[in-house]
Amino acid sequence: MDLERLLTDRLAPAFAAVAGVPVDPAVRRSQHADFQSDAALGLARRLSRPPREIAAEVRERAALADVCASVEVSGPGFLNLTVADHALGGLVSALAVDPRLGVPPVAEPETVVVDYSAPNVAKEMHVGHLRSTVIGDAAARTLEWLGHRVLRANHLGDWGTPFGMLIEHLLDLGEAGAAQELSMGDLDGFYKAARAKFDDDEAFRERSRRRVVALQGGDPATLRLWRLLVTQSESYFLTVYDLLDVTLTGDDFRGESSYHDQLAPTVEELDRLGLLRRSEGADCVFPPGSVGRDGEPLPLIVRKSDGGYGYPATDLAALRHRTGTLGATRLLYVVGLPQRRHFEMVFAVGAQAGWLTAPVRAEHVGFGSILGPDGRMLRSRAGGSVKLVGLLTEAVERATALARERNPELGEAEAAEVGRAVGIGAIKYADLSGDRHKDYVLDWERMLSLDGNTAPYLQYAYSRVRSIFRRAGAAARPDADVSLAEPAERALAMELVGFAAVVEEVAGSLEFHRLTAYLHRLAVAFSAFYERCPVLRADGPVRESRLVLCELTGRVLRQGLDLLGIRTPERL
Ligand code: ARG
Repeated sequence: MDLERLLTDRLAPAFAAVAGVPVDPAVRRSQHADFQSDAALGLARRLSRPPREIAAEVRERAALADVCASVEVSGPGFLNLTVADHALGGLVSALAVDPRLGVPPVAEPETVVVDYSAPNVAKEMHVGHLRSTVIGDAAARTLEWLGHRVLRANHLGDWGTPFGMLIEHLLDLGEAGAAQELSMGDLDGFYKAARAKFDDDEAFRERSRRRVVALQGGDPATLRLWRLLVTQSESYFLTVYDLLDVTLTGDDFRGESSYHDQLAPTVEELDRLGLLRRSEGADCVFPPGSVGRDGEPLPLIVRKSDGGYGYPATDLAALRHRTGTLGATRLLYVVGLPQRRHFEMVFAVGAQAGWLTAPVRAEHVGFGSILGPDGRMLRSRAGGSVKLVGLLTEAVERATALARERNPELGEAEAAEVGRAVGIGAIKYADLSGDRHKDYVLDWERMLSLDGNTAPYLQYAYSRVRSIFRRAGAAARPDADVSLAEPAERALAMELVGFAAVVEEVAGSLEFHRLTAYLHRLAVAFSAFYERCPVLRADGPVRESRLVLCELTGRVLRQGLDLLGIRTPERL
């Protein structure tokens, strides 16, 4: 049980008694005491009583004696709550014996589809796919840890008109040559060469068009070539996932093509429901509330005028499949903010069609761009888009060099492992530690810094905890009494018991910067504690108690970072 909840449970009946209706006590952390409740202010008008008087009456009625050392009415009518040390110590002791660190599995597990990563076949993954992969993976890990059934859906762009030209280009290169180019990860080169021919060469263009028709018609020879492109790209993406250390596997590929035979039935169902309208030769749905800049209703095109199905139709079929067949009740789409309108319309049509009705819900987990040091879209020196693998390799190299420099005793293998954990951790953390809706600047110095709100800082805090136990030669005794005599001990304990509330909040909002901010506060509190409170040099019960605080700090850091997909090496 976390403190917010405990205090809420104790205050709610008192508020209800005073107000005559249920009231949310709105308990939150405070600058002036440990927590405060401002709910009396909101009741003043309704009860026609001064808020201070309401707060005072709640204070009289609330059963807080065993939890709080003091409860004070302050300012216009706040209740300032200071938690009693023994109560806080008791909560810490309960965490010490709880393998889940105070975070119980959810009472009602859901089936959640997390649609993420989704690069495009025969195209390089760009930094937008990096963000999707990192955020989506954190979502999948977090929801899974809470006990939900998580289905990872890698909605690969593996279908559509570009495949005509890509297949023709593959034939020009010869299968072996093309396979080699693709497996080396030169996807952009491949795509650009095909594109250039398509733009300049009428005969190639014509071949490409015929090839698309053959592909859509299911011509076996064409399908075989298409599959070659897809599998080559997939195996390349898997090497990136491996480097990036994410949980996506080959089993999670759910390319656009996999919804192929559901496209016609999906559109037919829309038609039966009377939702289709013909506009400029295309079959469209006009979801209510969707208007363009000029105020004209905006259509979602489900079948193009040439009879083909595009991106929106595939997403509708996928949505229908995920809720109807897979039985998911929560759908997450981790995709950049530029696609916001697309998802709004897809969800609106899904709702109209009855595929997406309460309690089932869909969320576009949108995010901003990664910017270069100049504050503009990240570009390579040559001006092209930055290759993801290059970025990851650079992070690992930089971090490995730093690890060697800091800790010359590390062996080759350990330095490489630490470099990887720190480099990849730094990239992920930089991505997750800002409000995801905003753009952020990729800044190597900052994200690899051992100071500040960074992965290396937290990994360093973790390694300090581990070093204490290496020196102690034993683990903490989980049943030791926890005493919180020093302010720094108390402050650390206060953070430790707050883990559950943060994880629960983040599972809803998917705003991982709240979790990183929490972990950072915890590491800062630990570092202040460690400076002021000797652990191994303390005696008897004090030492035992402090070892419990250290051990819990290590476990929360490790678990919290694990939810974000970040490793915690024993030594840095
Ligand atoms: N392949 C798309 C892109 O690279 C992202 C797909 C996102 N997922 C979806 N269900 N539409 O932009």
